[in-house]
Amino acid sequence: MAKIRIDKYLADAGFGSRKDVKGLLKAKQVTINGETCVHAEEKLEPAQDVVCVQGKMVVYESFSYYMLHKPQGVVSATKDAHEKTVVNLITEQKRRDLFPVGRLDKDTEGLLLLTNDGKLSNDLLAPGKHVDKVYYAKVQGKVDESDVKAFADGVDIGDDTPTKSADLRILKSGEESEIELTITEGRFHQVKRMFHAVGKEVIYLKRLSMESLVLDNTLTKGEYRSLTEEEIKKLC
Ligand code: URA
Repeated sequence: MAKIRIDKYLADAGFGSRKDVKGLLKAKQVTINGETCVHAEEKLEPAQDVVCVQGKMVVYESFSYYMLHKPQGVVSATKDAHEKTVVNLITEQKRRDLFPVGRLDKDTEGLLLLTNDGKLSNDLLAPGKHVDKVYYAKVQGKVDESDVKAFADGVDIGDDTPTKSADLRILKSGEESEIELTITEGRFHQVKRMFHAVGKEVIYLKRLSMESLVLDNTLTKGEYRSLTEEEIKKLC
């Protein structure tokens, strides 16, 4: 790994802006291999050198991957002037360049991947890649076999082209139905618009999986964890 400046290293690792980091250096709060460092331009080798801030060792990863159980009421963005964002939910020392891979609506819950790996994000979101996303939903209205067929054939949701074939599994059919739906696209409000197109309304929506990544059911709403090596390997 190439050498990088201490101010960039600490800013990337989540210690604030380069200006904030300069403050830490000036206040003699930073050591590199045990030696106090006060110069923002000093360089280090991330894979070898040990950096401490206020006596605590800095965890530095080039790429971070988190699985978040997104709760309702939080927006899928990095920053927002008024609303809490999914990035705000990652409370440990984190890379400053984390972002959510795709979006879930504010009222949608479930699996959201957060990373700073732009290539992985592009691969998962590219329209040509047809990545499977599985959702669980409660739907107002009786979902039946005609909907299964309609979704398999593709429905008109008001875009230029109908939706691609989607796999609808009915878990409960009644006044209020419960379903699992697998889609391979990521159009705006896609699941809600697909049900709207067949005269029904989604009243609760949760994402269960995306490609090989499955929501860890030990995570309660708002909780997160790093992906395991195996999960990363399967995705990348
Ligand atoms: N489809 C929707 O309608 N909303 C989401 O949040 C995700 C998929």
